[in-house]
Amino acid sequence: MDFTAILLEMLSIKHLPQFNFSTHTSYIAISLLCTMSTAVLAESENYLRQEPIFPIPLKINVDKGKAELGEKLFIETRLSKNDQIACISCHQLTSGGDDNLPIGISISGEQHIINTPSIFNAQYNFRQNWDGAAKTLQDQINMAMTSTHEFDNNWDNAVTAISSDQELSNDFNAIYKDGVTKENIINSLVEFEKTLITPNSKFDQHLRSEDDILNDDEIKGYKIFKELGCISCHQGINIGGNLYQKFGVFYNYIAERGDIKKPDYGRINITDRLVDAYVFKVPSLRNIAVTAPYLHDGSAETIEEAISIMGKTQLGRSLSTDEVLYIKAFLNTLTGEYKNIPLDAES
Ligand code: HEC
Ligand code: HEC
Repeated sequence: MDFTAILLEMLSIKHLPQFNFSTHTSYIAISLLCTMSTAVLAESENYLRQEPIFPIPLKINVDKGKAELGEKLFIETRLSKNDQIACISCHQLTSGGDDNLPIGISISGEQHIINTPSIFNAQYNFRQNWDGAAKTLQDQINMAMTSTHEFDNNWDNAVTAISSDQELSNDFNAIYKDGVTKENIINSLVEFEKTLITPNSKFDQHLRSEDDILNDDEIKGYKIFKELGCISCHQGINIGGNLYQKFGVFYNYIAERGDIKKPDYGRINITDRLVDAYVFKVPSLRNIAVTAPYLHDGSAETIEEAISIMGKTQLGRSLSTDEVLYIKAFLNTLTGEYKNIPLDAES
């Protein structure tokens, strides 16, 4: 069904709901209750401070052989139709696991249609992609293979290309009984993705420690983040990544921006249900300081802009410069380490 006319009309609604504090707080309470799952409670025994955000494990168990093979495939351009693009072309691991572009590259030589999210900690998201189109990391790779913006390839071609490489083919045969197959390519890539965690951020250290790790501004920023209600959507291990929410609860940012394209419609593109119009997966705020620009359309250049937009669109609030700066100080504590090197270390 083509919802275009209705969707555009929704954006022209003049009277948006006013901010109502009492409804809003009960909504926050419900949202937190729903997400404090048994997994959270189990994890909470392993760290000191009981907060709605919890730390990334310092170590995870992976099958080393498969992960190493996956790492080779992660930089393997022969997975793509034109032999020029690999996962790493768009998900760079020396910065934020993304590409630092508003809208990234596409194999078509033009542009992708949506901002590239970070691949770091993606395994902790309840769904993958901005609109949750991929249920699992496996689905996401399957989609990347055929996407006309990503590999624009098919599995037969990819399997043939990988099989023709003696070294890779030997690796597959040593690990998997059936050698190079679509399933095994996906399996080893996912095993590598499991290693893409960024533990030990300053905030995680604070969660685990009795000492005062955070400075006053950072503590104040976290307090504001909770009091305003940012935490109602951005919480859990990824400080996001565990809920869908409408972008523009109180204010139609997309309408103001104009030039509305299909990706702006959000989850309705997947479900065909009007309730999913402009609904997105709440993105993770881990490593947010190093993943500019922001939002699904990459339209917020700085973290300050993104914070102000969130105040307006999601909370019906015009945040003061101080509030924005305190929240920024807190968000800066969410930058973790990859292979023991802080993601914001000078290279
Ligand atoms: C041409 C650039 C490009 C390439 C190549 C690419 N990606 Fe992505 N990736 C993106 C974009 C853009 C998105 C967001 C797509 C969307 O939301 O519709 C994304 C989304 C993802 C996500 C979901 C993250 C989240 O928070 O929702 C994961 C995981 C991911 N990619 C992993 C991979 C892997 C693994 C490969 C290689 C098999 C790969 N990507 C290849 C650009 C790329
Ligand atoms: C009602 C749910 C909700 C609330 C409350 C909320 N957010 Fe968000 N946040 C979202 C959604 C949904 C997006 C994705 C918007 C998009 O680009 O489509 C998002 C995106 C972001 C981004 C950009 C992430 C990226 O990778 O591009 C930042 C930063 C952010 N939020 C911070 C905040 C802060 C700070 C607050 C409080 C002032 C807040 N959010 C309140 C739902 C929420």
